[in-house]
Amino acid sequence: MTRPKDFAPSLLKWYDANKRPLPWRKTKNPYRIWVSEVMLQQTQVSRGIEFYNRFLAKFPTLSSLAKASWRNVLPVWRGLGYYRRGENLLRTAKLLVSEYKGKFPQDKKSLQQLPGIGPYTAAAIVSFAFDQPEPAIDTNVKRVLGRFYGCPEVGVGPRAVSIFRKHKKQSAELNHALMDLGSALCTSRKALCEECPLSKGCDYYQSGKRDVWAAQSARKTKRKRSAAPSIVDVGCACIHREGKYLFAKRIAAKGGKWEFPGGKREKGESIRSCLKREIQEELGVEVSVRPPFLVEEFTEKNFTWRLHFCRCRILRGREQCREHEKLEWVTPDDFSNYPMPKENRRALSKL
Ligand code: ADE
Repeated sequence: MTRPKDFAPSLLKWYDANKRPLPWRKTKNPYRIWVSEVMLQQTQVSRGIEFYNRFLAKFPTLSSLAKASWRNVLPVWRGLGYYRRGENLLRTAKLLVSEYKGKFPQDKKSLQQLPGIGPYTAAAIVSFAFDQPEPAIDTNVKRVLGRFYGCPEVGVGPRAVSIFRKHKKQSAELNHALMDLGSALCTSRKALCEECPLSKGCDYYQSGKRDVWAAQSARKTKRKRSAAPSIVDVGCACIHREGKYLFAKRIAAKGGKWEFPGGKREKGESIRSCLKREIQEELGVEVSVRPPFLVEEFTEKNFTWRLHFCRCRILRGREQCREHEKLEWVTPDDFSNYPMPKENRRALSKL
């Protein structure tokens, strides 16, 4: 039997019965679509909805956003993380108004010249807002199509384009449908092939690769479970000025305790550069970082957390409260009035 390689008819039928009613799917307005796509980068859909509605209530149009400053945008972005995205959104809004007469370019190439718009976001905008036959290939769609075609993920784009061209009028729906399939059935952890509308033509299912991959991943998980805990290094910035230390209060969704600003070290980073990066992102300031005066370790749920406490000073800028509920400068006499996680106690006593 030859496998049907045009997935569109069965996919669209499935989508009709199973689509998620997401707010950005009710519009063709490129501004709203762009805002949703930027927010959904590194953010779960359920969380994205709340921020999307709040953002558009405050900035309903491109021109309202272009008139704003980062001080106005920050309160509605706070808690979403990755502040660079929000700053680029604002820069692009201003550019669109000043250089493009307030209109979005309708081709991918021009869109990609704008800050924060890469190939995926450009494809999503031209597909959802302008009905162009462009597959919007993010990680999930790459996986779905890679499995379907049984080809390396880099090869999925050109193959999908021909299907999109053939079903030009439904290209926005095809993108939505692929996203929903990747989130509901063809997930990275499990592929529910028996329920999948594409299984008849799917290489992953038909060639039996699914069973081989599933067995491999089960072996990997088993190995991981019995392995030693993974180590996560975290930089904690004890930023001081005139005898006071900068404390940050976590937002309620993160427990509401106080902490030292900072965050996880990324691969290949030193603790010093991790802290410079994290503090720039969280507080918008440049800091100097001294070598750690204390390293504390604790293990929780198969992770060993290694906290590196470093004295820091602000070199440039004024601290902004970007990710926390509030910031306060606290004297050591007052430390006990600011509840912190217990792993910080020894650091506090050394300051
Ligand atoms: N993830 C990124 N963009 C999305 C969209 N438009 N719908 C659902 N999930 C998404």
